[in-house]
Amino acid sequence: MLSPDEFIKDAIKKVKDEIGDEKAIIALSGGVDSSVCSVLVQEAIGDNLIAIFVNHGLLREGEVEEVTNTFKDRLNFHYVDASDEFMEALEGVEDPEEKRKIIGKVFIDVFEREAEKTDAKYLVQGTIAPDWIETKGEIKSHHNLALPSGMVLEVVEPIRDLYKDEVREIGLELDLPEKVVFRQPFPGPGLGVRVVGALTKDNVEIARKANKIVCDEVEKAGIDKEVWQYFAVLTDTKVTGVKGDQRDFGYLIVVRIVNSIDAMTASVAELPWEVIQTISRRITSEISEVTHVALSISDKPPATIEFC
Ligand code: XMP
Repeated sequence: MLSPDEFIKDAIKKVKDEIGDEKAIIALSGGVDSSVCSVLVQEAIGDNLIAIFVNHGLLREGEVEEVTNTFKDRLNFHYVDASDEFMEALEGVEDPEEKRKIIGKVFIDVFEREAEKTDAKYLVQGTIAPDWIETKGEIKSHHNLALPSGMVLEVVEPIRDLYKDEVREIGLELDLPEKVVFRQPFPGPGLGVRVVGALTKDNVEIARKANKIVCDEVEKAGIDKEVWQYFAVLTDTKVTGVKGDQRDFGYLIVVRIVNSIDAMTASVAELPWEVIQTISRRITSEISEVTHVALSISDKPPATIEFC
């Protein structure tokens, strides 16, 4: 078992031997796996690594700025705002799996287009052990990715044998900010799976604001590292409420805060009542389109962690 320091030295050497003076690209999401991978490979090959950060328009409040500020001086960092392209492709799509497929496909299109602008020979991926163990080895250790133009990228996976807790240790050793290292899991399709039904810029913005309030309050209460995930879901249900002396008809938001070890099962976290009350009051007072906030109290199973 290597210490974090030994692992880093060993990984840098292996990446240098493998990539040499060629160029490589990585899709950086700002999550711990892709962040650790990016910094590790940057230490090995410098600016020959091009880190591409794609904004699909479904990111959390402040996420573009946070990821940009963390990495712009540390990596050869390329930001791509493709939010309009994603929203156009998703127009009118209600089915959650269909939304996921479209988001995945547009993501690959955007990333491949960016890759083709470089003369990269390698694609760095932040695959970790549970990713390939869960797919029963279907993700092979040596494989290529052929792009539509005929360009072929050889895949490099420097943290393939690590588990999440080990990736976090490496992240700390690499001086990544704690906010990145201990960031709660955030699904690839982002807020796209936190809005029930078809996505619009307006309803994604409501979900974004509500998620920010949940994050603010859970973090302010100092329980963010104790719970696995904490978020808000915008449902497609509208309910009657009263604001001022007027009856109002607004959205129902569900707040979900769960404990888990590996996301395979989850239980609802017990939170101080004041935290829940503050979240609810802030959501209804700060987001005019919302009249009602409910707290999800279902474990996984039978519920899933996300709503869509
Ligand atoms: P569920 O909802 O299936 O979620 O209980 C289990 C874990 O996976 C995350 N999740 C996703 N992550 N793409 C991702 O990258 C997805 O489409 C996706 N759907 C769910 C979820 O946030 C939880 O941590």
